[in-house]
Amino acid sequence: MQAVVLVGGEGTRLRPLTYAVPKPMAPLLGRPFIGWIIERLRAAGVVEVILSCCYLPEAIESYFGDGRNFGVDLHYVFEEEPLGTAGAVKNAVHKVSGTTYVCNGDILTGVDLVALREAHARTHAIATIHTRAVEDPSQFGVVETDTNGRVLRFVEKPQPGETSAIDINAGTYVLEPEALDAIPPERKVSIERETFPKLISETERVFAVSTNDYWIDVGRPSTYIQAHRDILDSAFERPLGEEIAKGIWSADGTPIPRGVDVIGPVYLGAGVRIEAGTTIGPYAVLYEGCRVSAGAHVSSSIIWPECFIGHGASVRDAILGLEVVVEPGAAVEPGSVLGRDERVHARTP
Ligand code: GTP
Repeated sequence: MQAVVLVGGEGTRLRPLTYAVPKPMAPLLGRPFIGWIIERLRAAGVVEVILSCCYLPEAIESYFGDGRNFGVDLHYVFEEEPLGTAGAVKNAVHKVSGTTYVCNGDILTGVDLVALREAHARTHAIATIHTRAVEDPSQFGVVETDTNGRVLRFVEKPQPGETSAIDINAGTYVLEPEALDAIPPERKVSIERETFPKLISETERVFAVSTNDYWIDVGRPSTYIQAHRDILDSAFERPLGEEIAKGIWSADGTPIPRGVDVIGPVYLGAGVRIEAGTTIGPYAVLYEGCRVSAGAHVSSSIIWPECFIGHGASVRDAILGLEVVVEPGAAVEPGSVLGRDERVHARTP
Protein backbone atom coordinates (compact mmCIF):
# COMPACT_ATOMS: atom_id res chain seq x y z
CA MET A 1 0.00 0.00 0.00
CA GLN A 2 1.04 3.61 -0.53
CA ALA A 3 0.80 6.69 1.66
CA VAL A 4 0.67 10.38 0.91
CA VAL A 5 2.08 12.52 3.71
CA LEU A 6 1.25 16.22 3.72
CA VAL A 7 4.38 18.17 4.52
CA GLY A 8 3.81 21.45 2.71
CA GLY A 9 2.44 23.75 5.39
CA GLU A 10 4.37 26.83 6.51
CA GLY A 11 4.09 25.92 10.16
CA THR A 12 3.25 29.47 11.20
CA ARG A 13 2.49 28.50 14.79
CA LEU A 14 6.03 27.23 15.20
CA ARG A 15 7.65 30.43 14.00
CA PRO A 16 10.37 31.60 14.26
CA LEU A 17 11.73 28.02 14.27
CA THR A 18 10.07 27.27 10.94
CA TYR A 19 11.65 30.24 9.15
CA ALA A 20 14.82 28.17 8.92
CA VAL A 21 13.55 24.59 9.12
CA PRO A 22 10.22 23.27 7.80
CA LYS A 23 8.07 21.73 10.55
CA PRO A 24 8.43 18.15 9.24
CA MET A 25 12.20 18.48 9.66
CA ALA A 26 12.06 19.73 13.26
CA PRO A 27 14.31 17.41 15.24
CA LEU A 28 12.64 14.94 17.58
CA LEU A 29 14.93 12.72 19.59
CA GLY A 30 16.98 11.05 16.91
CA ARG A 31 15.12 11.75 13.70
CA PRO A 32 13.29 14.63 12.07
CA PHE A 33 9.65 14.72 12.98
CA ILE A 34 8.35 13.06 9.79
CA GLY A 35 10.95 10.32 10.23
CA TRP A 36 8.67 8.98 13.00
CA ILE A 37 5.69 8.98 10.64
CA ILE A 38 7.61 7.30 7.84
CA GLU A 39 8.85 4.64 10.25
CA ARG A 40 5.33 3.86 11.46
CA LEU A 41 4.09 3.62 7.89
CA ARG A 42 6.95 1.29 7.00
CA ALA A 43 6.22 -0.89 10.01
CA ALA A 44 2.57 -1.12 8.86
CA GLY A 45 3.67 -2.52 5.50
CA VAL A 46 3.68 0.68 3.41
CA VAL A 47 6.38 0.42 0.75
CA GLU A 48 5.93 3.69 -1.07
CA VAL A 49 5.49 7.11 0.51
CA ILE A 50 4.71 10.26 -1.45
CA LEU A 51 5.66 13.47 0.29
CA SER A 52 3.47 16.34 -0.73
CA CYS A 53 5.76 19.35 -0.42
CA CYS A 54 5.42 23.09 -0.76
CA TYR A 55 7.26 25.12 1.88
CA LEU A 56 11.09 24.63 2.02
CA PRO A 57 10.98 21.28 0.19
CA GLU A 58 14.75 21.08 -0.39
CA ALA A 59 15.42 20.47 3.30
CA ILE A 60 13.12 17.45 3.25
CA GLU A 61 14.33 16.00 -0.04
CA SER A 62 18.02 16.39 0.73
CA TYR A 63 17.63 14.52 4.03
CA PHE A 64 15.35 11.66 2.97
CA GLY A 65 16.39 11.29 -0.70
CA ASP A 66 14.86 8.26 -2.37
CA GLY A 67 14.06 6.73 1.01
CA ARG A 68 16.37 3.72 0.71
CA ASN A 69 18.00 4.47 4.08
CA PHE A 70 14.55 4.60 5.66
CA GLY A 71 13.10 1.35 4.33
CA VAL A 72 10.58 2.87 1.90
CA ASP A 73 10.46 4.20 -1.65
CA LEU A 74 10.07 7.95 -1.34
CA HIS A 75 8.62 10.19 -4.01
CA TYR A 76 8.05 13.91 -3.92
CA VAL A 77 5.43 16.16 -5.44
CA PHE A 78 5.73 19.92 -5.29
CA GLU A 79 3.24 22.78 -5.32
CA GLU A 80 4.03 26.26 -6.55
CA GLU A 81 1.33 27.66 -4.28
CA PRO A 82 -0.16 25.88 -1.25
CA LEU A 83 -3.10 23.79 -2.47
CA GLY A 84 -4.55 23.00 0.95
CA THR A 85 -4.96 19.62 2.59
CA ALA A 86 -7.05 18.03 -0.23
CA GLY A 87 -5.53 19.97 -3.14
CA ALA A 88 -2.13 18.66 -2.05
CA VAL A 89 -3.41 15.07 -2.18
CA LYS A 90 -4.93 15.70 -5.62
CA ASN A 91 -1.57 17.03 -6.77
CA ALA A 92 -0.06 13.63 -5.91
CA VAL A 93 -2.81 11.58 -7.53
CA HIS A 94 -0.74 10.61 -10.58
CA LYS A 95 1.59 8.72 -8.24
CA VAL A 96 -1.16 6.89 -6.37
CA SER A 97 -3.02 3.73 -7.33
CA GLY A 98 -5.61 1.88 -5.27
CA THR A 99 -6.42 2.40 -1.63
CA THR A 100 -4.02 4.79 0.07
CA TYR A 101 -3.21 6.24 3.45
CA VAL A 102 -3.13 10.01 3.77
CA CYS A 103 -1.41 11.47 6.81
CA ASN A 104 -1.04 14.98 8.11
CA GLY A 105 2.67 15.50 8.47
CA ASP A 106 2.45 17.00 11.94
CA ILE A 107 0.66 14.26 13.85
CA LEU A 108 2.46 11.77 16.01
CA THR A 109 0.20 8.84 16.77
CA GLY A 110 0.36 5.26 17.88
CA VAL A 111 -2.81 4.36 15.95
CA ASP A 112 -2.73 0.84 14.52
CA LEU A 113 -2.57 1.60 10.80
CA VAL A 114 -3.22 -2.00 9.81
CA ALA A 115 -6.39 -2.11 11.95
CA LEU A 116 -7.49 1.18 10.35
CA ARG A 117 -7.13 -0.24 6.86
CA GLU A 118 -8.94 -3.45 7.91
CA ALA A 119 -11.85 -1.45 9.33
CA HIS A 120 -11.92 0.52 6.07
CA ALA A 121 -12.21 -2.70 4.06
CA ARG A 122 -14.90 -4.14 6.38
CA THR A 123 -17.22 -1.16 6.01
CA HIS A 124 -16.57 -0.72 2.25
CA ALA A 125 -15.87 2.91 3.02
CA ILE A 126 -14.82 5.44 0.42
CA ALA A 127 -12.93 7.23 3.20
CA THR A 128 -12.03 6.22 6.76
CA ILE A 129 -10.97 8.87 9.21
CA HIS A 130 -9.03 8.18 12.36
CA THR A 131 -10.67 10.08 15.22
CA ARG A 132 -10.07 10.41 18.91
CA ALA A 133 -11.97 11.79 21.84
CA VAL A 134 -10.64 14.94 23.49
CA GLU A 135 -11.83 16.86 26.52
CA ASP A 136 -12.12 20.18 24.74
CA PRO A 137 -12.80 19.81 21.01
CA SER A 138 -13.38 23.55 20.43
CA GLN A 139 -10.07 24.03 18.60
CA PHE A 140 -10.45 21.00 16.35
CA GLY A 141 -12.61 19.54 13.60
CA VAL A 142 -15.26 17.45 15.33
CA VAL A 143 -16.57 14.32 13.59
CA GLU A 144 -20.17 13.29 14.35
CA THR A 145 -21.00 9.64 13.67
CA ASP A 146 -23.88 7.21 14.08
CA THR A 147 -23.49 4.12 16.24
CA ASN A 148 -21.90 2.21 13.32
CA GLY A 149 -19.16 4.79 12.92
CA ARG A 150 -20.69 6.27 9.77
CA VAL A 151 -19.79 9.95 9.63
CA LEU A 152 -22.80 12.24 9.67
CA ARG A 153 -21.23 15.67 9.92
CA PHE A 154 -18.00 17.59 10.30
CA VAL A 155 -18.05 20.61 12.60
CA GLU A 156 -14.92 22.79 12.45
CA LYS A 157 -14.00 24.44 15.75
CA PRO A 158 -17.49 24.09 17.27
CA GLN A 159 -19.00 26.79 19.42
CA PRO A 160 -20.31 25.69 22.84
CA GLY A 161 -23.57 23.75 22.33
CA GLU A 162 -23.04 23.29 18.58
CA THR A 163 -22.37 19.55 18.93
CA SER A 164 -22.23 17.01 21.73
CA ALA A 165 -19.60 14.93 19.89
CA ILE A 166 -16.06 14.96 21.27
CA ASP A 167 -14.28 12.85 18.64
CA ILE A 168 -11.94 14.97 16.56
CA ASN A 169 -10.37 14.41 13.18
CA ALA A 170 -6.99 12.94 14.09
CA GLY A 171 -5.39 13.54 10.69
CA THR A 172 -4.86 10.00 9.37
CA TYR A 173 -7.12 8.68 6.61
CA VAL A 174 -7.58 5.69 4.35
CA LEU A 175 -8.96 6.78 0.98
CA GLU A 176 -10.31 5.00 -2.07
CA PRO A 177 -9.51 6.32 -5.57
CA GLU A 178 -13.14 7.51 -5.81
CA ALA A 179 -12.47 9.84 -2.87
CA LEU A 180 -9.50 11.31 -4.72
CA ASP A 181 -11.66 11.70 -7.86
CA ALA A 182 -14.00 13.93 -5.84
CA ILE A 183 -11.27 16.54 -5.25
CA PRO A 184 -11.25 19.27 -7.91
CA PRO A 185 -7.80 19.70 -9.50
CA GLU A 186 -5.47 22.70 -9.59
CA ARG A 187 -7.01 24.80 -6.89
CA LYS A 188 -6.83 25.15 -3.16
CA VAL A 189 -9.12 22.60 -1.45
CA SER A 190 -9.47 21.72 2.22
CA ILE A 191 -10.09 18.06 2.95
CA GLU A 192 -11.85 18.88 6.23
CA ARG A 193 -14.03 21.72 5.02
CA GLU A 194 -14.79 20.67 1.46
CA THR A 195 -13.91 17.11 0.48
CA PHE A 196 -15.19 15.17 3.49
CA PRO A 197 -18.49 17.13 3.73
CA LYS A 198 -19.05 16.51 0.00
CA LEU A 199 -18.31 12.78 0.32
CA ILE A 200 -20.54 12.51 3.39
CA SER A 201 -23.52 14.05 1.64
CA GLU A 202 -23.02 12.34 -1.71
CA THR A 203 -21.97 8.81 -0.73
CA GLU A 204 -22.71 8.11 2.95
CA ARG A 205 -19.57 5.97 2.81
CA VAL A 206 -17.33 7.99 5.08
CA PHE A 207 -16.54 6.17 8.32
CA ALA A 208 -14.61 7.05 11.44
CA VAL A 209 -12.52 4.80 13.65
CA SER A 210 -12.09 6.24 17.12
CA THR A 211 -9.14 5.04 19.21
CA ASN A 212 -7.46 6.28 22.33
CA ASP A 213 -3.91 5.61 21.16
CA TYR A 214 -1.14 8.09 21.78
CA TRP A 215 -1.80 11.22 19.68
CA ILE A 216 -0.35 14.69 19.51
CA ASP A 217 -0.32 17.50 16.96
CA VAL A 218 3.19 18.89 17.20
CA GLY A 219 2.32 22.12 15.46
CA ARG A 220 2.66 24.42 18.49
CA PRO A 221 5.67 25.10 20.71
CA SER A 222 3.91 23.62 23.75
CA THR A 223 2.99 20.42 21.92
CA TYR A 224 6.43 20.14 20.32
CA ILE A 225 7.86 20.25 23.85
CA GLN A 226 5.22 17.77 25.04
CA ALA A 227 6.11 15.32 22.25
CA HIS A 228 9.73 15.39 23.48
CA ARG A 229 8.57 14.75 27.03
CA ASP A 230 6.35 11.89 25.98
CA ILE A 231 9.12 10.13 24.08
CA LEU A 232 11.60 10.74 26.91
CA ASP A 233 9.02 9.19 29.26
CA SER A 234 8.48 6.27 26.81
CA ALA A 235 4.80 7.20 26.50
CA PHE A 236 4.96 6.79 22.73
CA GLU A 237 8.28 5.34 21.53
CA ARG A 238 11.77 5.59 22.94
CA PRO A 239 14.40 8.08 21.75
CA LEU A 240 16.88 6.83 19.16
CA GLY A 241 20.43 6.35 20.40
CA GLU A 242 21.80 4.74 23.50
CA GLU A 243 20.50 4.97 27.06
CA ILE A 244 23.85 5.53 28.75
CA ALA A 245 22.33 5.76 32.25
CA LYS A 246 18.76 5.55 33.44
CA GLY A 247 16.81 8.20 31.52
CA ILE A 248 19.97 9.68 29.96
CA TRP A 249 20.07 9.25 26.21
CA SER A 250 22.99 9.89 23.94
CA ALA A 251 22.71 9.88 20.14
CA ASP A 252 26.20 8.48 19.74
CA GLY A 253 26.79 6.81 23.10
CA THR A 254 29.26 9.42 24.38
CA PRO A 255 29.53 9.19 28.18
CA ILE A 256 28.60 12.18 30.33
CA PRO A 257 31.71 14.21 31.10
CA ARG A 258 32.86 14.25 34.70
CA GLY A 259 31.58 17.01 36.92
CA VAL A 260 28.32 17.48 35.01
CA ASP A 261 25.18 17.12 37.10
CA VAL A 262 22.69 15.37 34.83
CA ILE A 263 19.12 14.92 36.03
CA GLY A 264 17.15 12.68 33.68
CA PRO A 265 15.38 12.47 31.47
CA VAL A 266 17.90 14.09 29.19
CA TYR A 267 18.85 13.63 25.53
CA LEU A 268 22.23 14.61 24.12
CA GLY A 269 22.88 14.75 20.39
CA ALA A 270 26.14 13.79 18.71
CA GLY A 271 29.13 15.98 19.44
CA VAL A 272 27.52 17.91 22.30
CA ARG A 273 30.15 19.40 24.57
CA ILE A 274 29.32 20.14 28.19
CA GLU A 275 31.82 21.58 30.63
CA ALA A 276 32.13 20.49 34.25
CA GLY A 277 30.07 22.42 36.79
CA THR A 278 26.89 22.51 34.71
CA THR A 279 23.44 21.23 35.57
CA ILE A 280 21.52 19.56 32.73
CA GLY A 281 17.92 18.40 33.13
CA PRO A 282 15.38 17.28 33.79
CA TYR A 283 13.76 17.25 30.34
CA ALA A 284 16.72 18.93 28.68
CA VAL A 285 17.34 18.08 25.04
CA LEU A 286 20.53 19.31 23.41
CA TYR A 287 20.90 18.51 19.72
CA GLU A 288 24.12 17.97 17.85
CA GLY A 289 27.04 20.28 18.22
CA CYS A 290 25.67 22.30 21.15
CA ARG A 291 28.11 23.63 23.70
CA VAL A 292 27.33 24.37 27.33
CA SER A 293 29.87 26.28 29.43
CA ALA A 294 30.71 25.85 33.10
CA GLY A 295 28.13 27.01 35.61
CA ALA A 296 25.27 26.97 33.09
CA HIS A 297 21.90 25.37 33.77
CA VAL A 298 19.56 23.88 31.16
CA SER A 299 16.21 22.29 32.02
CA SER A 300 12.81 21.67 30.37
CA SER A 301 14.16 22.98 27.09
CA ILE A 302 14.80 21.92 23.52
CA ILE A 303 18.07 23.25 22.17
CA TRP A 304 18.54 22.90 18.41
CA PRO A 305 21.91 22.13 16.81
CA GLU A 306 25.00 24.29 17.22
CA CYS A 307 23.74 26.51 20.04
CA PHE A 308 26.15 28.01 22.52
CA ILE A 309 25.25 28.50 26.18
CA GLY A 310 27.74 30.68 27.96
CA HIS A 311 29.30 30.51 31.39
CA GLY A 312 26.70 30.70 34.17
CA ALA A 313 23.80 31.18 31.75
CA SER A 314 20.43 29.60 32.35
CA VAL A 315 17.82 28.18 29.98
CA ARG A 316 14.49 26.96 31.37
CA ASP A 317 11.20 26.16 29.58
CA ALA A 318 12.42 27.39 26.21
CA ILE A 319 13.07 26.31 22.65
CA LEU A 320 16.26 27.60 21.06
CA GLY A 321 16.50 27.41 17.25
CA LEU A 322 19.66 26.76 15.25
CA GLU A 323 22.91 28.43 16.38
CA VAL A 324 21.41 30.56 19.13
CA VAL A 325 23.94 32.14 21.47
CA VAL A 326 23.14 32.65 25.13
CA GLU A 327 25.81 34.95 26.43
CA PRO A 328 27.65 34.30 29.68
CA GLY A 329 25.45 35.10 32.66
CA ALA A 330 22.31 35.54 30.55
CA ALA A 331 18.96 33.99 31.44
CA VAL A 332 16.57 33.02 28.67
CA GLU A 333 13.04 34.15 29.46
CA PRO A 334 10.92 31.05 30.27
CA GLY A 335 8.48 30.34 27.42
CA SER A 336 10.81 31.80 24.78
CA VAL A 337 11.00 30.35 21.29
CA LEU A 338 14.10 31.77 19.63
CA GLY A 339 14.86 31.73 15.91
CA ARG A 340 18.10 30.97 14.11
CA ASP A 341 21.17 32.95 15.19
CA GLU A 342 19.37 34.93 17.89
CA ARG A 343 21.52 36.18 20.75
CA VAL A 344 20.44 36.45 24.36
CA HIS A 345 22.37 39.13 26.22
CA ALA A 346 23.14 39.22 29.89
CA ARG A 347 21.29 41.97 31.73
CA THR A 348 23.51 44.81 32.75
CA PRO A 349 23.09 45.53 36.46
P1 GTP B 1 0.23 26.32 10.86
O1 GTP B 1 0.58 27.38 9.84
O2 GTP B 1 0.98 26.52 12.13
O3 GTP B 1 -1.25 26.16 11.04
O4 GTP B 1 0.78 24.91 10.32
P2 GTP B 1 0.61 24.21 8.89
O5 GTP B 1 1.03 25.15 7.84
O6 GTP B 1 1.38 22.93 8.95
O7 GTP B 1 -0.94 23.93 8.76
P3 GTP B 1 -1.78 22.75 9.37
O8 GTP B 1 -1.26 22.40 10.71
O9 GTP B 1 -3.21 23.08 9.25
O10 GTP B 1 -1.48 21.56 8.35
C1 GTP B 1 -1.78 20.21 8.61
C2 GTP B 1 -0.86 19.37 7.75
O11 GTP B 1 -1.11 19.59 6.37
C3 GTP B 1 0.61 19.68 7.95
O12 GTP B 1 1.31 18.47 7.87
C4 GTP B 1 0.97 20.58 6.79
O13 GTP B 1 2.32 20.42 6.38
C5 GTP B 1 0.05 20.09 5.71
N1 GTP B 1 -0.41 21.17 4.81
C6 GTP B 1 -1.22 22.21 5.15
N2 GTP B 1 -1.46 22.95 4.08
C7 GTP B 1 -0.82 22.36 3.03
C8 GTP B 1 -0.69 22.68 1.64
O14 GTP B 1 -1.25 23.66 1.13
N3 GTP B 1 0.08 21.85 0.89
C9 GTP B 1 0.70 20.76 1.40
N4 GTP B 1 1.45 19.99 0.59
N5 GTP B 1 0.62 20.44 2.70
C10 GTP B 1 -0.14 21.23 3.51
